[in-house]
Amino acid sequence: MRWSFAAPLAITIIIAAAELPDLKTPRTPPEQPIAFSHKLHVNKNGLKCTQCHPVPDPGDFATVPKTQFCMGCHSAVKTESPEIKKLAAFHSDGKRVPWIPLYRVPEWVSFNHKQHLGVQGVSCESCHGKVSERDALAREKDISMAACMDCHRAHKASNDCLLCHDHR
Ligand code: HEC
Ligand code: HEC
Ligand code: HEC
Ligand code: HEC
Ligand code: HEC
Repeated sequence: MRWSFAAPLAITIIIAAAELPDLKTPRTPPEQPIAFSHKLHVNKNGLKCTQCHPVPDPGDFATVPKTQFCMGCHSAVKTESPEIKKLAAFHSDGKRVPWIPLYRVPEWVSFNHKQHLGVQGVSCESCHGKVSERDALAREKDISMAACMDCHRAHKASNDCLLCHDHR
């Protein structure tokens, strides 16, 4: 029984691994299309992480807000700023802002935000660092398989291969 799905799993993973990004090495902040600051919005304006990243069901993604959400304030706030003019232009063109992604695991890995957020001692910071103190975000935390497993070990959670890899 075990081997009947172990072989296709190995093959899928080997093929996908050929294009794998290096998830261990922290990145420096990329130049984003708009100079958005988490520090300014979270620390100074008191917005909560989940107001902008609501983690809708089933919880696979935290999501990044649409321009509509930003314009709720910025149709009136700082309208003369060149950065807000860029935001307003994306909005009136009906386009999403092409933010550069920082944290992504390959799509053949099962990761779910909701399953982690209720856990004692686990917060956004555990996996993304001190976001509320950053002007520009970088991928400052390791999200490789080793990092997942280290935390699972520390919390006595399962490290069964099939927890994170399915056998399709
Ligand atoms: C006002 C809305 C807003 C709030 C509040 C906010 N964020 Fe964000 N977040 C964004 C936007 C816009 C981006 C994309 C630009 C960037 O990376 O800075 C982003 C990007 C991110 C990313 C990287 C996403 C990726 O593609 O990899 C993480 C992680 C993140 N936010 C975590 C947080 C956490 C944790 C908090 C609370 C401390 C928070 N955010 C609060 C709007 C917000
Ligand atoms: C709850 C209201 C609110 C929301 C929602 C909001 N902002 Fe802001 N934003 C502000 C305030 C207030 C400032 C600071 C103005 C100041 O410097 O006094 C600001 C500042 C900024 C600035 C800096 C402008 C400059 O040149 O100084 C940028 C860029 C920006 N916001 C982008 C965004 C983006 C992108 C979103 C959506 C992901 C967003 N904001 C959502 C209230 C908001
Ligand atoms: C246990 C680790 C962990 C925790 C806790 C966590 N994240 Fe994530 N986050 C990740 C991983 C891994 C990814 C990449 C997921 C993917 O590619 O499907 C990610 C991706 C993201 C993204 C970008 C892609 C998306 O999901 O839309 C945002 C935004 C984000 N996280 C915000 C948050 C916020 C806000 C919190 C707290 C409410 C949080 N994360 C808590 C590990 C975590
Ligand atoms: C900060 C610690 C931490 C990190 C980092 C972490 N996890 Fe977890 N994860 C946990 C804990 C604790 C549980 C057990 C939750 C429970 O029993 O309710 C868990 C549970 C899970 C589950 C099972 C959820 C369920 O209820 O069936 C999956 C799948 C999972 N993690 C995948 C990942 C992946 C993939 C990564 C890396 C990208 C990762 N985790 C990183 C702490 C972490
Ligand atoms: C807690 C989640 C988790 C568990 C448990 C897990 N993996 Fe992974 N695995 C990942 C993540 C995330 C990646 C992609 C990131 C990376 O390569 O580090 C990955 C990537 C891989 C890769 C391809 C990447 C490489 O390193 O070349 C293989 C092969 C793999 N896993 C096999 C396994 C086997 C075999 C087991 C059981 C012993 C296992 N995994 C258990 C999360 C997990």
